[in-house]
Amino acid sequence: MALSIPADSTWNSVREKLDAFLRQTLSARRYKHSRAVAELCQALCLRFGYDAHAGYIAGLGHDAAREMPEEQLLEEVKQAGLETDAYETGNPVLLHAPVSALILKKRFGVEDAGILEAVRRHTLGGPGMGLLAKILFVADYCEPGRTFIDSAFRTACLRLPLERMIVYIIDNEKARGHEPSPLSLAMYHELKNRELKKEEPEAGR
Ligand SMILES: [Fe+2]
Ligand SMILES: [Fe+2]
Repeated sequence: MALSIPADSTWNSVREKLDAFLRQTLSARRYKHSRAVAELCQALCLRFGYDAHAGYIAGLGHDAAREMPEEQLLEEVKQAGLETDAYETGNPVLLHAPVSALILKKRFGVEDAGILEAVRRHTLGGPGMGLLAKILFVADYCEPGRTFIDSAFRTACLRLPLERMIVYIIDNEKARGHEPSPLSLAMYHELKNRELKKEEPEAGR
């Protein structure tokens, strides 16, 4: 699929401008995380047949607004009239997802629906996610700099089929005592049911 970017831009110029912006606006730690997510997202795109350039941009920009103060996130959401989930407004740091998508669109001219959806939904996930959104969700959790998972978890997770990776991640969060949000749970049940259906023997045989 093609990325919808302004006619005077190229993949590389979006990537370079976004990279420079993140280097200036994020802490060194978050910038490093963003680069690592971009790399893993790109690699997973190659594996699962998605545009790797789009994957890199989604990974690089997914936390563009992560260090914005909560009041500013709330203000940005209000100004732009963005739709949000009650769980997000109750935990305003989560609003960095829609605001990061907004930054990609307004500041860097990214119109691609797959990238914007992936960035928008990278924190909580949700049912009916597109391929890039699923890939970014996994890349954000499994990038090599994450210290809340170990290399055994990372290796085991990244060997699974894509949707099972997400189920594996949510199971891990539950095991760590983190109750998934309603959107994350809806995604979990959707993917889990699909998995169970695949395992059911076909009727009439
Ligand atoms: Fe994030
Ligand atoms: Fe992140």
